[in-house]
Amino acid sequence: MKSEVCSRAFTDIAPYYDTLMSFINYRGWVAYIENILAFNTIRGKKVLDLACGTGVCVLLWLERGYDVIGLDGSLPMLEICRQKLIRSAPRVHNNVYLINGDMRNFRLARKVPIMTCLYDSLNYLLREADLVSCFECVYDTLSDDGIFIFDINTIHCLHDEWGNQTFHRQDGDIYSTWTNTFNTSTFVSSLDLTLAIKKDGKETIIKEFHQERAYPLSTIRELLTNAGFDCSFYRHLTFTPAQERDLRVMGVATKK
Ligand SMILES: C[S@@+](CC[C@H](N)C(=O)[O-])C[C@H]1O[C@@H](n2cnc3c(N)ncnc32)[C@H](O)[C@@H]1O
Repeated sequence: MKSEVCSRAFTDIAPYYDTLMSFINYRGWVAYIENILAFNTIRGKKVLDLACGTGVCVLLWLERGYDVIGLDGSLPMLEICRQKLIRSAPRVHNNVYLINGDMRNFRLARKVPIMTCLYDSLNYLLREADLVSCFECVYDTLSDDGIFIFDINTIHCLHDEWGNQTFHRQDGDIYSTWTNTFNTSTFVSSLDLTLAIKKDGKETIIKEFHQERAYPLSTIRELLTNAGFDCSFYRHLTFTPAQERDLRVMGVATKK
């Protein structure tokens, strides 16, 4: 028996997201961010993770003794995060708060010292105006001595690494097909993602359409500067100054 679902990005794939991303060393990413925090002498221990998704990093921050707010636009992704929190140690439940919101338009009652936005999430903002709105909200929500740390895929990554190609994967019961198309005028990479989940003699097909846009580093710098930030860019997981030829870049922004 076969059933098929077509859905918006980050809806029906939510229960499978962690399995699909299990190759990511999130623990290493968080350790790297802690080095950035130490380098910038950030002492507060409260993180707002924008576009937190299923909350892999939310749980890692909690494990490291931080208070965490997770914000995401997808309820199904947040629901997976909520279920994982319920299964985790009850003592962390007072230290975490989840918000279903848009990173282009949010406001918190209290400012926070650390804000993160990880794993391509900013690339999901397809217009410069979206980045501007997001950076303005970050500025308003960050404490004056706080820090905003994010990663972003470069044009080189979307154009040359992902390009126009299809690949197939198998992760346990999940067979997936990833078809990317890069538009050289808009710098938008479109992904047709199909999952075939084979379980108990049944096959469920899930299709989602994702789009990511890459921006020149100079544009991101200019938009952050206009929003009131000083910023540095590093090659992801290093402290080497970033270049356009890097695949993923880590941005670090502090208020001027
Ligand atoms: C690739 S996932 C990354 C999730 C998580 N940060 C991680 O590292 O696994 C991108 C996330 O961005 C969220 N997202 C995309 N656009 C958003 C927006 N405008 N506001 C809030 N969340 C958004 C999606 O719902 C999704 O959970």
